[in-house]
Amino acid sequence: MPTDLEARFAGWLREARRVMAFCGAGISAESGLPTFRGGGGLWEGHQVEDVATPAAFRRDPQMVWRFYAMRQEALGQVEPNPAHFALARLEQGCDDFLLVTQNVDNLHERAGSRKMVKIHGSLMETRCVRCEQVETLAAPVSRADIDQGDLPHCQCGGLLRPNVVWFGEYLNPEHLDRIYAFFDRIPRASTRDSSNLLLVIGTSGAVSGGYGITSLAREAGARVVEINPEPSYLSHEADMVLPVPAGELFSRVYEPG
Ligand code: OAD
Repeated sequence: MPTDLEARFAGWLREARRVMAFCGAGISAESGLPTFRGGGGLWEGHQVEDVATPAAFRRDPQMVWRFYAMRQEALGQVEPNPAHFALARLEQGCDDFLLVTQNVDNLHERAGSRKMVKIHGSLMETRCVRCEQVETLAAPVSRADIDQGDLPHCQCGGLLRPNVVWFGEYLNPEHLDRIYAFFDRIPRASTRDSSNLLLVIGTSGAVSGGYGITSLAREAGARVVEINPEPSYLSHEADMVLPVPAGELFSRVYEPG
């Protein structure tokens, strides 16, 4: 049974015509993928500077590839959860929708999301360090090959790297443009308009303050709802905080029908 607050949230979802969802690792936690920060998180077992910076890749591409091949393999063991499916369905029912995800897993697309910017890139894509060509992988890079020092290479001969955004790298400006364009399409009203909604799901907001997305939404007059069992750096910007796991919440308030 939804709580009163959850029932109110369900009403906000029904009223919303323009929705942006801004997601982080927490939305995939109930599918079985680890988040980054906190107990058992990926950054507890790995040093960021060893596996997620351009310098690390220059210094030890084999170690970096081992980390990413392991994460690619993990995708084969997990399925999208009700929160991923709810966002895919919401996309169908809205006049305007954009999913902005920091997640490099493929669970959103497997749930059916299409209007999406993956601002931190994708685990299942490679990019050539020489010619910049981006390719989608059909299967995880073989860890056995990596262990033997056989790293993936491009047809041009250049070394391939995971097509993800590492610490110290810029976001793709086209991705930022799509985010700004979404807010530009919201007609400016003098009061907070119930037809515009930002869902902030499963992110600590620890990286670049969530790129200012919550502030942009507030300036545009959108309601901001956070779904996260723990307080985050973005909680103070939310009009409503639902302190529960996202998959559980959406299975209570938004079952696919
Ligand atoms: P974090 O690990 O920083 O935060 C995950 C958030 O998810 C936390 O606030 C948790 O409380 C919350 N959470 C956990 N389980 C949840 C659930 N079932 N439902 C809803 N929320 C839940 O992960 P991100 O915010 O995604 O970047 O981290 C942002 C970026 O930092 C990542 O994309 C990655 C990382 O370093 C790069 O690798 C460039």
